[in-house]
Amino acid sequence: MESEIIGLVVALLLWVAWAMITERRQRRLEELGRLPPGPRWWPVVGNIFQLGWSPHESFAKLAHKHGPIMTLWLGSMSTVVISSNEVARDMFKNHDVVLAGRKIYEAMKGDYGNEGSLITAQYGPHWRMLRRLCTSEFFVTSRLDATGGIRSRCIDRMVQFIEDAGGSGTGAVDVGRFFFLMAFNLIGNLMFSKDLLDIKSERGAKFFYHAGKVMELAGKPNVADFLPILRWLDPQRIRRKTQFHVKRAFEIAGGFIKERREMFTAGTDTTTSTLEWAMAELLHNPKTQHKVQAELRSVIGPNQKLGEKDIENLPYLKAVIKETLRLHPPLPFLVPHMAMNSCNMLGYYIPKETQILVNVWAIGRDPATWKDPLVFKPERFLESNMEVDYRGHHFEFIPFGSGRRMCPAIPLASRVLPVALGSLLHSFDWVLADGLKPEDMDMSERMGITLRKAVPLKAIPIPYKGHQTQVS
Ligand code: HEM
Repeated sequence: MESEIIGLVVALLLWVAWAMITERRQRRLEELGRLPPGPRWWPVVGNIFQLGWSPHESFAKLAHKHGPIMTLWLGSMSTVVISSNEVARDMFKNHDVVLAGRKIYEAMKGDYGNEGSLITAQYGPHWRMLRRLCTSEFFVTSRLDATGGIRSRCIDRMVQFIEDAGGSGTGAVDVGRFFFLMAFNLIGNLMFSKDLLDIKSERGAKFFYHAGKVMELAGKPNVADFLPILRWLDPQRIRRKTQFHVKRAFEIAGGFIKERREMFTAGTDTTTSTLEWAMAELLHNPKTQHKVQAELRSVIGPNQKLGEKDIENLPYLKAVIKETLRLHPPLPFLVPHMAMNSCNMLGYYIPKETQILVNVWAIGRDPATWKDPLVFKPERFLESNMEVDYRGHHFEFIPFGSGRRMCPAIPLASRVLPVALGSLLHSFDWVLADGLKPEDMDMSERMGITLRKAVPLKAIPIPYKGHQTQVS
């Protein structure tokens, strides 16, 4: 007990000393007058209290006042937030290499932490080797073509499980849960040629619980990230709790996924979030749901299965996916970048080790670019003057990022997202559970590793007459 008190006193003294040093540094940099502008900050805590529960929204509001390139101090961590397509273009076109580092948060550290992972590796020879391996082993067209059967089987199973769980149109299902397990098994199959989780088992439910906890904890604002002197204390116990749930999840799924954990982290929650939001927007906008179903059912016969080869003939379905990614990018700040060296951007000084957050959520809702930005309107992507895609060249729409660190899995996601969503819309008609009306749906967001729907989507699948699923 006595030693704990001494420890806390020492920590407090160190913290005060640290605060004084960092405050002097902050003021010195500000006096140079070269940092991007930003809101006033408080000693020690900086702008932490302006983060709120939805930092992407808070930062978008602050950007209206302080501009599309803005400095914030999260404790002693200098952060630059980019909120317009013009500034994003400058970042990725002119400063891509120097800003290709990664800011590593406390929750990612520990026994099951970031070492060796492609997502969190610092830019350099090791990252390049991992990236080359990843693009040539998993996401190259020949390999994707060869593994189409695996994806089709995982999606068919999901449809079958939903049909069983929905009791032929009498029961509601938690849609996100099925998407999550489909995405997890899909990645497991691509890498280990086997299903890692049985969707119906107790093991599956436990895994879902622990994985959900990891996602939630990793997105929580952590004082230890903002005040490095407190790292060893782990005051909110976020690192310890995260490690606990990660360990349990690995134990359940099999220790071997540890080797490829970054693929699971990067691939499962992003896919789940996008698909759950797409279904939620369609249930919220029944006319759009009927329109996409009409397209699907005119192209695919009632007893036929939707396959990857059909995607090109389904422009409206593809537009639904794009519109979902515009309004609900699963990673609203991309994966945080870091300046590996100091640099000058648009006349401003960006100090070494500054965290760079690109607010793609705000960019996707910018009224200067998008007409009726808050309305879910897939048609906008079909207008001839809106031939915008998400491959990193149209900076008004970069849900996968751009430049060297952009998502390497776009070729995979472009196949899985439309086929998974389309299969559910082709196989079932959907109504909201508990007689909820579309206009009464709660569409609020919850920030974890990804931006998920705060209230999980519950909907009743009614099998579409004449359609039969064949599970191989
Ligand atoms: C809806 C689907 C997805 C979206 C929207 C998405 C988005 C992103 C974004 C925004 C980044 C960070 C880009 C940056 O920091 O500049 C990223 C990185 C990454 N993604 Fe994805 N992703 C998706 C699916 C996947 C899947 C299915 C996988 C793997 C199976 C995957 C693997 C990765 C990896 C390994 C990285 C790190 C790349 C690096 O740091 O070099 N992603 N993704």
